[in-house]
Amino acid sequence: MTNSSVTPIRWNHQELILLDQRILPATESYVTCRDAESVAGAIRDMVVRGAPAIGISAAYGVVLAARAHSGSHPGALEPHFKVLAESRPTAVNLFWALDRMKKRLEELGSVDVQALEQEAIAIHQEDLQANLHMGELGADLIAESGKGNILTHCNTGSLATGGYGTALGVIRSANKRGLVEKVFADETRPWLQGARLTAWELCQDEIPVHLIADSAAAHVMKTCGVTWVVVGADRITANGDVANKIGTYSLAVLARQHGVKFMVAAPSSTIDFNLSSGKDIPIEERTEQELKSLQGVTIAPEGARAFNPVFDVTPAHLIDAIVTERGVVQAPDLDGMAVLRSSS
Ligand code: MRU
Repeated sequence: MTNSSVTPIRWNHQELILLDQRILPATESYVTCRDAESVAGAIRDMVVRGAPAIGISAAYGVVLAARAHSGSHPGALEPHFKVLAESRPTAVNLFWALDRMKKRLEELGSVDVQALEQEAIAIHQEDLQANLHMGELGADLIAESGKGNILTHCNTGSLATGGYGTALGVIRSANKRGLVEKVFADETRPWLQGARLTAWELCQDEIPVHLIADSAAAHVMKTCGVTWVVVGADRITANGDVANKIGTYSLAVLARQHGVKFMVAAPSSTIDFNLSSGKDIPIEERTEQELKSLQGVTIAPEGARAFNPVFDVTPAHLIDAIVTERGVVQAPDLDGMAVLRSSS
């Protein structure tokens, strides 16, 4: 992580050690995973979260499975791939990382722990490099509007990625260039990634942050001089539609209404060219309990049902730029995304 001794994903060749993001910032505690099943559990239960971070963790999960099947036929890992793939449905980075590990396994022809470990480490390191590059590309866009206030949603920093961050990486790079007056961070109900994680990372970097209730975004855009909304993504489809944390779509509508620019920063591992539009993206629904209670305290009447979709889809036409490590797609659409695809 930048400016921090906290490392959210640690690999020691035999164990995956994950910072428990559910209890930050109050407590810094780690969960140790020794097999693929415990990695899948950690992803499902939000110990580790954020699209790139869960992809990286799943890749290490495959290595843990491989250790128990060294020298076996690739098929021996199939049940472990399955359990990892079932941990969460929306962020495509999970499936991208598993596909990449599977492809390597097939090339190897048998379970070669060392070679699979190298692949997982490469996935981890490449994500950090992608973020550093995206940071610069995104900051170039912010520079065009001059110094201003940025609004962001959920957590997209070191905790959610292989390091530095996607949208938060852009904010970090823009801040280094003196382009950030302050950041408005949505608290991001119900898991409060904005309050607990984004605000924490920004404070550590000494970037001025004002936490806002999710429902304050319209007022803030109207009255507080916001120049850019910068968010991450969990899956981007071939036409430039973007699935991201619930509440992102509302921000895009509000940004258009208030003449605020809207940027999505995500590595190319977040793009799913197999899906033609956002309507095909599986949207995760989590438990009613996540909405009906807050830190273990019930806040809703017993009889009330809750509906808890945790992602939404922002249509491409509301997005000014998608920033990836391969380049920037302005006013994304099918053609712009196809150009990006062919640039690999
Ligand atoms: O449910 P989460 O915490 O795993 O949510 C995913 C995210 O962190 C966000 O949607 C983020 O904006 C994209 S991943 C950097």
